[in-house]
Amino acid sequence: MLEAPQMQPDTPSQTGQPAPSVLVFDSGVGGLSVAGEIRKLLPGLRLIYAADYAFLPYGEKTEAQLIERVPRLLAALEARFAPKIVVIACNTASTVVLPATRAALQAEVVGTVPAIKPAAALTQTKVIGLLGTPGTVRRTYTQHLIDDFASDCQVLRHGSVELVGLAEAKLRGEKPSQAAVEAAIAPLYAQPGGGDVDVVVLACTHFPLLAEELAAASAPKVRLIDSGAAIARRVKTLLGVQSLPGPAPAGPAILTPGADIGALKPAFAAYGFDEIEILDV
Ligand code: DGL
Repeated sequence: MLEAPQMQPDTPSQTGQPAPSVLVFDSGVGGLSVAGEIRKLLPGLRLIYAADYAFLPYGEKTEAQLIERVPRLLAALEARFAPKIVVIACNTASTVVLPATRAALQAEVVGTVPAIKPAAALTQTKVIGLLGTPGTVRRTYTQHLIDDFASDCQVLRHGSVELVGLAEAKLRGEKPSQAAVEAAIAPLYAQPGGGDVDVVVLACTHFPLLAEELAAASAPKVRLIDSGAAIARRVKTLLGVQSLPGPAPAGPAILTPGADIGALKPAFAAYGFDEIEILDV
């Protein structure tokens, strides 16, 4: 028998309709870059954030490990919060777990995948940089995006675990060392053709959190693009709303064990998640 979901009541809006809620999921703080874009577009939306610190970094996990874990974790979160939409704000997970997650959940599932198509439309030099986790840059899914949308471009890839760590540290309040950011991105530009890169796809949701540092470590002609704003527009379309003015009903951040909550609290609060809860899975 199915257990009754422990739903938190949605705050009724002025129209008497329950306010919709959306769950944003990542391995760590990366999904905050997506949650921030959703909040900008729909300030009145109730957002719940979930981060799987117990399994961070996802970029070093096998596809089988992610397929076994992510749909199961998201199903548990869906049973508790009954969100209308689940956003997997993680390229590393989305490029492998989307079918299994859609099969496991009732909510609409929105994935975050590398912004190859807009990059191909933007590049003048036809040389694109793809900066993701080691998992994302080697995925078949990513190769299909390149074949489908950027077959006339040279795509230089680099997978970095270091940048994920630097973004996490930044949101714990540790100023990232510019030399460390430069060293982490250098292998992208050191490849043949690297000097011609004019668009870099930030194919990991942690990386927009380092946008300033990455821009300073890149040639002035390089444009950095990510999928955050497109995800926010997709959420708006799926909700079928024109606007949702703020303030938003409070929604918590749910973290699996392993995070330094004390250090992360201000960053979560800055993104509107004042309450942090640990979920032991
Ligand atoms: N934020 C995740 C992404 O978009 C990856 C971070 C990790 O490796 O856990 O790919």
